Amino acid sequence: MQTFSTQFARQNPNIAAKKIFSLIKDEMALVEAEFERQASSNIQIINYLGDYLRASGGKRVRPALLLLSNYASGGNPAKENIVRLATVMEMLHTATLVHDDIIDNADTRRNRASVNARFGNQAAVLMGDWLYMSAFETSLQERSLEILDILTRLTRKMTEGELIQLTTLGKTDITEEEYFDILRRKTAYLFSACCEIGAILGNASEDEQSALREYGLNLGTAFQLADDLLDFTAEEEILGKASGADLLEGKLTLPLILLVKEDAAVKSDLERIMHDGDYETISRRMLLKKLENAGLLAETRDKAYSFANKAIKNLEQLPKTEYRVALEEIPSYMIERAK
Ligand code: IPE
Ligand code: IPE
Ligand code: MG
Ligand code: MG
Repeated sequence: MQTFSTQFARQNPNIAAKKIFSLIKDEMALVEAEFERQASSNIQIINYLGDYLRASGGKRVRPALLLLSNYASGGNPAKENIVRLATVMEMLHTATLVHDDIIDNADTRRNRASVNARFGNQAAVLMGDWLYMSAFETSLQERSLEILDILTRLTRKMTEGELIQLTTLGKTDITEEEYFDILRRKTAYLFSACCEIGAILGNASEDEQSALREYGLNLGTAFQLADDLLDFTAEEEILGKASGADLLEGKLTLPLILLVKEDAAVKSDLERIMHDGDYETISRRMLLKKLENAGLLAETRDKAYSFANKAIKNLEQLPKTEYRVALEEIPSYMIERAK
């Protein structure tokens, strides 16, 4: 399975991501076993779809962040309830992916057919709902209103992000503010919640808790910026999902938002691509060349690095342990992927 560390190791054999994740290797194995338990049911179709999703892998970034944040704030993530909550975060993430692929009409996810492509939209909507609700049910075992509050607010914000994004589809005049608002809701708040819940379960001080919350928000922002860059730069097999897909789905991400600002004439090209749903009239290579000539992929990468640096700065509130060092190293690995 392609976990965070194995996927990074494959792409960047020289980096020490393996080392970071070896710190929580045993706990991540417990998360895997817990995921299997939580996604099982005596209803055959749910079991089947649950297995299909779990076996497709994924980097497991979110539970890893919860576990590392827990360690970094003095907790012991091998404990049953912490493994359980880490698994809840991966289940919530899986639910958002299942729904997102219906919304985006995506055929591929993690190098295999998406649930909607393989089993139809009806099954996918319901399986997404089931995963959400099972995750909430499991989170209730913690009997923590503080955690429930974070999770419900988070889920509302993610749904709002997808709805706001619908209203911007096909538009070439989306502003940077709108883009970052959607990005935070779609991705960054979930990262933030993982880190904050890890801190709460580690009995972190208020300052440490808010430092980890902010760290997650900045890291999540850098992560989605990198994901948006990868859509331009990476091959489909590396991504495990279609590349060049954002524009075809009607979504302008930061590099193109910046390009439109510099060269309004490109709008008609972008509209054409979004309308046709392919790059036949205007090639992907030509568009990429324009972005490269204007230095906009580099500018987007710089922006991702600036959020990564903010994230690293947030960690100064925490005692300097090997877990804090691991958290410090994660942001640049994420951005290196998009090179
Ligand atoms: C995909 O997240 C959705 C985004 C926020 C871009 P990941 O890239 O973490 O997906 P998996 O879980 O590894 O497949
Ligand atoms: C990412 O949405 C965040 C969620 C799944 C909620 P995207 O639509 O941008 O992500 P990918 O490219 O499908 O993974
Ligand atoms: Mg999508
Ligand atoms: Mg989407």
